[in-house]
Amino acid sequence: MRFTERLSSKTIFLAPMAGVTDAAYRMVARSHGADLAYTEMVSVAGIHYRSEKTWELVMPHADEPDIAVQLFGSSPDQFEEAAAQVAERVGEKLACIDINMACPVPKVIRKGEGSALMDDPVRAAQIVRAVRRGVGDTVDVTVKIRRGHTAKHELAPAFAQVIEDAGAAAIAVHGRFASQLYRGAADWSCVERVADAVDIPVIGSGDLLDAATVARVLTEGRVPAVMVARGSYGNPWIFEDAKALLGGRAATEHDAGERLDVLEEHIELLVATGAHLARARSLFGWYMRGLPHAAELRARGMACTTLEDYLSLIANARQRFS
Ligand SMILES: Cc1cc2nc3c(=O)[nH]c(=O)nc-3n(C[C@H](O)[C@H](O)[C@H](O)COP(=O)(O)O)c2cc1C
Repeated sequence: MRFTERLSSKTIFLAPMAGVTDAAYRMVARSHGADLAYTEMVSVAGIHYRSEKTWELVMPHADEPDIAVQLFGSSPDQFEEAAAQVAERVGEKLACIDINMACPVPKVIRKGEGSALMDDPVRAAQIVRAVRRGVGDTVDVTVKIRRGHTAKHELAPAFAQVIEDAGAAAIAVHGRFASQLYRGAADWSCVERVADAVDIPVIGSGDLLDAATVARVLTEGRVPAVMVARGSYGNPWIFEDAKALLGGRAATEHDAGERLDVLEEHIELLVATGAHLARARSLFGWYMRGLPHAAELRARGMACTTLEDYLSLIANARQRFS
């Protein structure tokens, strides 16, 4: 299915998150209702220099239905080359290539990458055209942006028009300025202003931290799709719960036993997909949030170093909660 066809109904994606949305994370989100999941941002320079580590971020696991691959960089030539290689290697499983023009991290911006591209619309348009050349006509190209760079100086609506003219099929908007990082509240009226400014579909992002908020934005807002990022931490049910609410049903409670079951499955998937087990530490903390003895369990989770350590701690926690 073309990426834009997915956006015709109320669609909920797992947003790209560097250091988080590896294959295991994406698979857990998909199995709980995410309509599509994005990779972590992938460096086009890394692909140019043939870094195997970079390709590990790109390639879907055999059990993943399909993925959105997000690329970042600043050289249109490198974008074209990377897009062509990603399309070739990922093949049928490539749902779209998304271009990161949103990242606020200083070491990224200093190189003219991520949200710095919002200050350089000429280059941004060249990059969209380059990626389109790289993938050909069969794969949709999308762009993710922020409100702009510096607070009070909103670039997003005019910038989105440049991106649309360059041939992007959809645009994702995180309603914060890059200078805010993740501080303050996301401004959803900016997402609406972008939707007013362009004819392509707009995907909203920012502060979708629980299922009720996701359902409300998709009911009351004008966007056909949203991306959930931090709201999925330890709560992969956010996708299916939001869909239940959208369908007029109640969201389900997820008790300690269910949380521990999915945590265990998630950690086992980390191992099965060859990810670094260090990622289990934050997962452990996220899934424990709000449970009794969470602080103590989190502290014990920090001391785990092997899969067996985690499994025995989870078994121990299960006994306590049964
Ligand atoms: C740890 C972390 C890593 C992120 N990495 C990326 C990334 O690689 N690419 C991107 O476009 N956005 C990235 N984001 C931004 C999210 O995709 C999302 O737009 C943002 O967190 C706002 O959504 P939220 O308030 O629901 O978390 C990241 C966010 C977090 C918290």
